[in-house]
Amino acid sequence: MLAKLSYSKLLIYVSLLILLMAGIHLLINGTDEDAIRFLISYSAKLSAFFFSIAFSASSISYFFNCNLSRSLLNYRPQLGLTFGVFHTFHLGFLIWLQSAIHPVFTLAKSSSLIGGGMAYVFMYLMMLTTFPSIRSRLKTKTWKALHLVGGYWIWFIFVKTYWRKVSIQNEGLFIFALLIIVLVIRVIYYIKAKSLKSKFE
Ligand code: HEM
Repeated sequence: MLAKLSYSKLLIYVSLLILLMAGIHLLINGTDEDAIRFLISYSAKLSAFFFSIAFSASSISYFFNCNLSRSLLNYRPQLGLTFGVFHTFHLGFLIWLQSAIHPVFTLAKSSSLIGGGMAYVFMYLMMLTTFPSIRSRLKTKTWKALHLVGGYWIWFIFVKTYWRKVSIQNEGLFIFALLIIVLVIRVIYYIKAKSLKSKFE
């Protein structure tokens, strides 16, 4: 069923699901600062999860060749787009907090705004170039470079944010560990693939 779902429909369905979950949360908890910060936090947590799976799918399928890993690889575009939708809501909830209660953007360090802003630029370029009609206009080399540099830039912002949460608030260890495991299996996969390639050249 998911394979037949167009990417545009997937974006709409995931957005509707998030709106439903956020709506129930706000109905129960009201719309004060804590309620909005909960949405900012959980939208980023879930986007970190989907990003990690999409960013490691090819390495996972190299090490664990089974139905699940093959499905992850097949649905990498859908996982990437789902990450993008959750993280768009992260930005939306931040803009709501900024406009209604607390100036998060005004108070944010310029390095966080530049780093975070660039991550969003990469994210939307990667989402756009996931659509076959746009991807087909790019050279494979350009597409791969965009998704590699963009992927690592987003990975770095997640790791930096979670390292701060782990070291200062003693929270977020599970997702921090997941992000580090993603890097480790990607590096091992890269080294193995490179050595295999040089063996046959
Ligand atoms: C564009 C500028 C951004 C601003 C101003 C911003 C601001 C914030 C704020 C204020 C929080 C704390 C919410 C709370 O717990 O009270 C937060 C949480 C978080 N943000 Fe962002 N953010 C930005 C972009 C990003 C980007 C690009 C990423 C990742 C690529 C990201 C990942 C996270 C994560 C992982 C959390 C913590 C989630 C958790 O509680 O587990 N943010 N952000």
